[in-house]
Amino acid sequence: MLTLGIETSCDETSCAVIEGTHSIRSNVVSSSLFRHQPFGGVVPEIASRHCLEQIDVVFKEALRQAAIKPEDIDLIAVTEGPGLMGSLLVGVSFAKGLSYELGVPLVGVNHLEAHLVANFLNAGKDQKPQRMPQQFIGLLVSGGHTMITYHQRGRVTILGETVDDAVGEAYDKVAKILNLGYPGGPVIDRLAREGNPDAIRFTKPKQKRRFDFSFSGVKTAVLYYVQNQRRQPDWNEEREKQLQKDLAASFQKAAVSWLVDKTLDAAVYKKVKTVIVGGGVSANSHLRQSLTETAAHQGLKVSFPTMALAGDNAAMIARRGVELYRSGKRASLKLTANPNLKIKARRLNL
Ligand code: KG4
Ligand code: ZN
Repeated sequence: MLTLGIETSCDETSCAVIEGTHSIRSNVVSSSLFRHQPFGGVVPEIASRHCLEQIDVVFKEALRQAAIKPEDIDLIAVTEGPGLMGSLLVGVSFAKGLSYELGVPLVGVNHLEAHLVANFLNAGKDQKPQRMPQQFIGLLVSGGHTMITYHQRGRVTILGETVDDAVGEAYDKVAKILNLGYPGGPVIDRLAREGNPDAIRFTKPKQKRRFDFSFSGVKTAVLYYVQNQRRQPDWNEEREKQLQKDLAASFQKAAVSWLVDKTLDAAVYKKVKTVIVGGGVSANSHLRQSLTETAAHQGLKVSFPTMALAGDNAAMIARRGVELYRSGKRASLKLTANPNLKIKARRLNL
């Protein structure tokens, strides 16, 4: 079975073809990042226009790389939300048109659910993908969401989530304060290697609920610290450069340690041996190392998607689409974009 995945939830336009559940035949991503950089963040209108310009080209390229014709497609899976309305509408409209024209079934996919299943796609031609465990803890870390979930035979429970900013958002805001440009994650990840992680200590925010997060306090603490430093009379470019490195390292150490602590606490609470991580921040080198090592001490296994599948891409959408299709889900031509789409899960009040 060949599934076409379509992802246009934010600033990326992506089409992918997967064979069966896990074999990637093509995964083409066109990013509009360079168009947003001068504005210091994603401009929704520019993002949707880019999706509209790119979707046809990206679709044809995905088919070319997969060496298939449109008639070979058996299923179309498209991101229906959450994300930016304008961008989402491009993918959903394109998918509906194609489904109608080719007479193939269509499924709507939740972008957040897809991020986690990126772990179950094959990493390379000769590598076997891992099987989805019967039960696991999910850690979803992206630009818009931070969530700990418990998965048992396809049933999902939300154990905790952020009460304010997402962790990716905190990376982006801290980078903005430090004049490091957009997006903040990759540049902070890189600079942190040259800075002192103990230069500034951030207090761990206290939450009412055991597995909830908060990242807006640390961003404000960074802002005040930077403003104070820059007021010093002998402030110069060299000290600014050192400040960037030290703050990158200190902020990252704090944010990652909170993610690691709560995720492993959730694994202990649910007596689960596997943690599956997904979302743009899963590309972070310190998170990868720290979570893997700390988990190993506790006899737990952690899985991250390959770097190519950590960010937004359509292969993960196709993979989730196949699962949903097999469980009987179908979308009609009434399918529409839902910018606030929630994951199908119950919330545990801990
Ligand atoms: O999943 P994603 O590509 O888009 C959303 O669904 O939001 O995540 C984007 C987020 C951005 O906030 C970006 O700064 C962050 O992922 N990110 C990283 C890294 N690479 C991307 N954060 C930390 N370290 C990274 N290496
Ligand atoms: Zn995403």
